[in-house]
Amino acid sequence: MHAAQNSHNTVAYPGFPYPKTHPDSLAAMAILHGLNPAPVEACRVLEIGCNEGANLIPMAYAIPTSEFVGFDLAGVPIERGQERIHDLGLANLRLFQADMLSLDAAALGTFDYIIAHGFYAWVPERVGERMMVLFGELLTPNGIAFVSYNAKPGGHLRMMIREMMLDHVRDIEEPTRRMAESIAFLQFLVQSRPEDDPTRLLIQNQLEHMEKRSLEGGFHDWLTEAYHPASITELVEHARSHGLEYLSEAVLPLPHDPTYRAEVRSMLESTCGGDIVRQEQKLDYLRARMYRETLLCRADRVIDRDFTAENLRRLMLASAVESSAGDKPGSKVYTIPAGFRMESHDAGVMALFAELEANWPRPMSLRELEPRLSGTGFRLDNEGVTLLIHLISAKFVSIHAWCAPVAAGITTHPRASACARLEAGTREFAPTLLHGMLKLEDAVLINFLKLLDGTRDRTALLKQMQEQFPELTEERTRAGIESSLRLLFRAGMLEA
Ligand SMILES: C[S@@+](CC[C@H](N)C(=O)[O-])C[C@H]1O[C@@H](n2cnc3c(N)ncnc32)[C@H](O)[C@@H]1O
Repeated sequence: MHAAQNSHNTVAYPGFPYPKTHPDSLAAMAILHGLNPAPVEACRVLEIGCNEGANLIPMAYAIPTSEFVGFDLAGVPIERGQERIHDLGLANLRLFQADMLSLDAAALGTFDYIIAHGFYAWVPERVGERMMVLFGELLTPNGIAFVSYNAKPGGHLRMMIREMMLDHVRDIEEPTRRMAESIAFLQFLVQSRPEDDPTRLLIQNQLEHMEKRSLEGGFHDWLTEAYHPASITELVEHARSHGLEYLSEAVLPLPHDPTYRAEVRSMLESTCGGDIVRQEQKLDYLRARMYRETLLCRADRVIDRDFTAENLRRLMLASAVESSAGDKPGSKVYTIPAGFRMESHDAGVMALFAELEANWPRPMSLRELEPRLSGTGFRLDNEGVTLLIHLISAKFVSIHAWCAPVAAGITTHPRASACARLEAGTREFAPTLLHGMLKLEDAVLINFLKLLDGTRDRTALLKQMQEQFPELTEERTRAGIESSLRLLFRAGMLEA
């Protein structure tokens, strides 16, 4: 039996919904770059190495009119996924066990979106080669492929850590013990070096990621048999040999990225000219990049690398900001769920956020927004485009090509996504209709979520909760119901 099949059958990989792989996100990035991707509500999606379908199942649930296919070498997680599909009655998703190397790809048809998350750099090279062959053969003319991988040059640093881990646990068989002992060894290593030592800081930084992961996840990420970081240059050369081209990363770089610095831009222009891949490679040296999530399209597509008002007008915008009064007179502070805040007294920005905040969790098209914002100072001229791109890169605004089936408000008989209700209590998180996840640690919230099947109003919900949690006062239960409904609504878990 193949090694990967073995380990994924015996050690469950903790899969999640990955928002950046969602067809909405892929389509929005493609539109921003001037392409014409398939509509999210009428597309075909393939996930390679989908494991138990933790990414595909919530997608297929939220987009019932599109078709989803996933396969994996490991049969045990595929069976787990098939059970969930059955429980949810999803007719638009098929998961099956197959080895990439012997798959009858032609029988699958073509796909508008192909996802390979956590795959390319963690499988033997011939399997990675086959992935690129499939991208080349199965992608529709306007199709988009997503590939994540350990990137160079930072991948070399990770290789150093991985080699030390592998050597330390070479006599240990059991996978989670291998990971636990590896972590303990790295902790010892960190403690035994001076505080400002660069190697200590490097290992400490990676340790922090490992400590947040489960031992099972860490084992698959760090101690797999195959581990091949690739530079952006290597990845794109590989893609080009199969008729594909570099589109962009899955999201815009964050505002502190070196790409926005004037002296970096002038170095890039003088050393790389307009070659985007050479530029990205140089930037990766500055970033000591360790991981990438890259989008590819067909080589003959015409890509607009300068963001234009015309392309932005084809998109929808959303924002999870919550506003409060700012420190300066007339200004407002905007906070996003990740905790970042910004203050603005610009009338155009404040008007934009007022519209988006009132509409959350639904997106609004720029065509709809522009007339509503006229006269507020918000204009999609060059300055307005730059400002909007800045808000998008800072994650205060997200771009969309599709409206998730989320409720516009909290209804009298609230219904949470069946997908979330199924997962509640079986895992420590539940997927949202926005393809995010909500951590569910509290038994009261888990039980409450399970009650939200659309048949109960507030009175019925109160009665059920009082029966389940008699130790809580009525006042506390009532307040808990309201705050939980607001939490679930804002997370995008309540259905339209
Ligand atoms: C690190 S896991 C990533 C799983 C999932 N894509 C995610 O990101 O959550 C890699 C997956 O690739 C699968 N895999 C490895 N080699 C494969 C092959 N030859 N054919 C199909 N799947 C394979 C493994 O079984 C495993 O489920």
